Amino acid sequence: MEHGLAWSPDDIDIERPSVARMYDYFLGGSHNFASDRELAKRAQAVFPDAPHVVRANRLFLGRAVAALCALGVDQFLDLGSGIPTVGNVHEVVAAHRPGARTVYVDSDPVAFAHASALLEDTERVTVVHADLRNPEAVLRDAVAVGGLDLSLPVAVLLVSVLPFIPEEDDPARIVAAYRDATVPGSYLAISHGTNDYRPKQVGEVETVYAKTTQPGVFRSKAEVERFFDGYELLEPGLVDIIHWRPEPEALQADPLGGDVARYSLIAGVGRRQA
Ligand SMILES: C[S@@+](CC[C@H](N)C(=O)[O-])C[C@H]1O[C@@H](n2cnc3c(N)ncnc32)[C@H](O)[C@@H]1O
Repeated sequence: MEHGLAWSPDDIDIERPSVARMYDYFLGGSHNFASDRELAKRAQAVFPDAPHVVRANRLFLGRAVAALCALGVDQFLDLGSGIPTVGNVHEVVAAHRPGARTVYVDSDPVAFAHASALLEDTERVTVVHADLRNPEAVLRDAVAVGGLDLSLPVAVLLVSVLPFIPEEDDPARIVAAYRDATVPGSYLAISHGTNDYRPKQVGEVETVYAKTTQPGVFRSKAEVERFFDGYELLEPGLVDIIHWRPEPEALQADPLGGDVARYSLIAGVGRRQA
C-alpha cells in the first residue's frame, strides 16, 4: 500500500496516473505510484527517448534561471513547478542570486504536498496549490502569500507545462494575463514539446497522456511562438532545447547525438516589452 506516505495526500486517486508523478518517474524520482510508472512505460514504448527529453528540459530550466539571475531578476514565479527534484528553481536562484524570491505553483496534490513539506523552512520560497488557468487567483496568492511585488520585474516560468493547457482553455489568453500583470522588463521562459518533427509519434504520446489527470498536447513552433506576444525573445530565440545557450561540453556529450527530432522539445526566454 503506497498511501499513508508523508508526500502523498490521502484523498488522491492513485489509480489515475498524474503528469507530475510520471515526470518524476522519468527523472528517476520516487514520488510516483504503480499506475504512473505503468503509463510512463507505455509513453516510453512509443517515445523511447523520454527520459533524455525530460532531463534536457530540467537542464534548460537551470540554464534559463541562471541567465535570468545574471540579468538581475529578483522574483521567480514557477507555474507548473512539479514535484521537487534535483536542480529546483530556488536552488539555482540561491546559487546565482541569493536573496531572490521563488514562488512555486502546481495543481498536483503530490507536487504541492511534497514541495510544502520540503520547503517549509526555506526563506524566500513559497509553494502555492493552484491551477495556473486562473491567473487572478494565482497572482493574488503569489503576492499575498509568496510576497511577490508586481511593481518590480518577475520571471514567469512555464517550463513543460503549457502542453497541459488545451486550446479550449485558451492558453494564449492565460499567458497574456500573466504578461499583463507584470511590468515591462519582466521575463517569460517557456519550453514546449513540438509536433514539427515527428507528428505521428508525438500523436501516439498524446494518446497515452490522454489517460492522465492532465492530458497533454504538442504544438508547432509557430503556435508556441505566439505565447511570446509582447515579449522580445532573448538570443538565440525560440529554438530546439539543446540549442538554448548550451554548455559546450553538454552538446559534445549529448546522449541523443544532438538529434533535435529525438527531443522534439523547443524553448525560449523573452523580455516583456514596454
Ligand atoms: C511535465 S511537469 C514539468 C515540471 C517543471 N516545470 C519542469 O519543467 O521540470 C508539468 C507540471 O505542470 C503541472 N500542471 C499541469 N497543469 C497545470 C495547471 N493547470 N495548473 C498548475 N499546474 C499544472 C503538473 O502537475 C506538473 O507538475
